[in-house]
Amino acid sequence: MKIAIGNDHAAPELKLAVKAHLEEKGFEVIDMGCAPGERCDYPDAAEAVCAKVTSGECAMGILICGTGLGMSYAANKVKGIRAACCSEQFSARLAREHNDANVLCFGARVVGEGTAFDLVDAFTSTPFSGDERHQRRIDKITAIENKNA
Ligand code: RB5
Repeated sequence: MKIAIGNDHAAPELKLAVKAHLEEKGFEVIDMGCAPGERCDYPDAAEAVCAKVTSGECAMGILICGTGLGMSYAANKVKGIRAACCSEQFSARLAREHNDANVLCFGARVVGEGTAFDLVDAFTSTPFSGDERHQRRIDKITAIENKNA
């Protein structure tokens, strides 16, 4: 599975650690973020990662900034993206199971490396349940997106 990852200047070290963790697990990781010592704006990284997801090149995206919040705001502006900002594993799992989220966001100033690994492990290993009631609600999110396009 191919995963796109992105970060701003608040998170290059955590991005590299998460990237190595995912590669160890056999994922191919496309890095769209900035390197240690560089500065970059989170909306740019969010847009680049989301483009990889909406094009189908990557199955999912991971975005890390200081809080995860700016990344999630930007990512959720992209049609077809459902970005979940999480700081604990339960939400990361339910974001997949119930919401079929395709982008995970978190903050390098909020979570440490261990929690970040837990988040990506839960997100990448949990399938969407496919339940009719969850699909109906996701379809309603898409309808809101289309109405406001
Ligand atoms: C950058 O300093 C910081 O604002 C950003 O990383 C993020 O936390 C925004 O939501």
